[in-house]
Amino acid sequence: MLDKIKAVEVEAGSEISAATDLKSLDDLRVKYLGRKGRVAELFGQLASLPPQDKPKFGSELNSLKTRIDELLKAKQGELSVSAALPKDFVDLTLPGFKPPIGTRHPIIKTIEDICDIFLGMGFKIVEGPEIETEFYNFEALNIPLDHPSRDAFDTFYIKDKYLLRSHTSPVQARFMEKEKPPFKIIVPGKVYRPDAVDASHSFMFHQVEGLVVGEDVTFADLKGALSVFVKEYFGEKTKVRFRPHYFPFTEPSAEVDVSCIICGGSGCSVCGKKGWLEILGCGMVHPNVFKAVKYNPEKVTGFAFGMGVDRIAMLKYGINDIRLFYENDMRFLEQFK
Ligand code: DAH
Repeated sequence: MLDKIKAVEVEAGSEISAATDLKSLDDLRVKYLGRKGRVAELFGQLASLPPQDKPKFGSELNSLKTRIDELLKAKQGELSVSAALPKDFVDLTLPGFKPPIGTRHPIIKTIEDICDIFLGMGFKIVEGPEIETEFYNFEALNIPLDHPSRDAFDTFYIKDKYLLRSHTSPVQARFMEKEKPPFKIIVPGKVYRPDAVDASHSFMFHQVEGLVVGEDVTFADLKGALSVFVKEYFGEKTKVRFRPHYFPFTEPSAEVDVSCIICGGSGCSVCGKKGWLEILGCGMVHPNVFKAVKYNPEKVTGFAFGMGVDRIAMLKYGINDIRLFYENDMRFLEQFK
């Protein structure tokens, strides 16, 4: 008898909780608590029990009736609330779902931070194509076909004279062809080189190029602008040094080093115990570059620079493997805002 009581209770419980409207709930009331319902049926069976068992099962059956009645009432309350609401009711007091908010990619953040500093000095941002021609990537920049410095700009060729630009410098020539000096521009963008991928090389990376052209632009202006940039980006205490170098598109040319931002200049594994980190190349625009874009090198002068964004981001944030930028691991990316 006890088993039967239990079974009816379980069955009633699951049917009631599955009811979706008041009508079917009423049917369930009849099914379980009606005059000919399941509970009444069990009461009927009491008669055949031995007299000493009757009080116990009688009271069990009474409490079964009460429990089913409670379940029915609770469900009725629930269903009548939703029945009273219009079909398209939206409860505006419910808390909303918070959409996950993305973060800026560290490379984008670095580009924006670099560009912001130059925007503050009156530069404007210009962009150029990633698919370039040999002319803009090399010739217009005073890198002749057979010149050994082409090796330094190892390049992905596509077809005929088309290639993936190996630096952002071609945008210098594209811009000067269309515009007249004076101007100050910076050019952020992707560049490509067929390098084997390792902790410090990627076949695609980012550069920010700069170009300033006018009537009396001097090397002192170059030093001034880049020193301001270094101190704003890496901190007021950072030291800057200009080291003679060679680039085909500038003369004279220099590389810029900053005092190691990890050890402050005393020497560590990041700066190779030198205390200095190379961060960009620069120089005074070569007269041949001006000639290629039909500027008169007797009339105008200019300076240019180019920096590797990925390397700068790695130094700034203490990242030891460039591949982290391109693996899209959320645990890495979420650390940048
Ligand atoms: N284009 C050079 C490179 O990819 C970087 C560079 C050096 C750009 C000197 C310049 C410059 O504009 O003046 O290595």
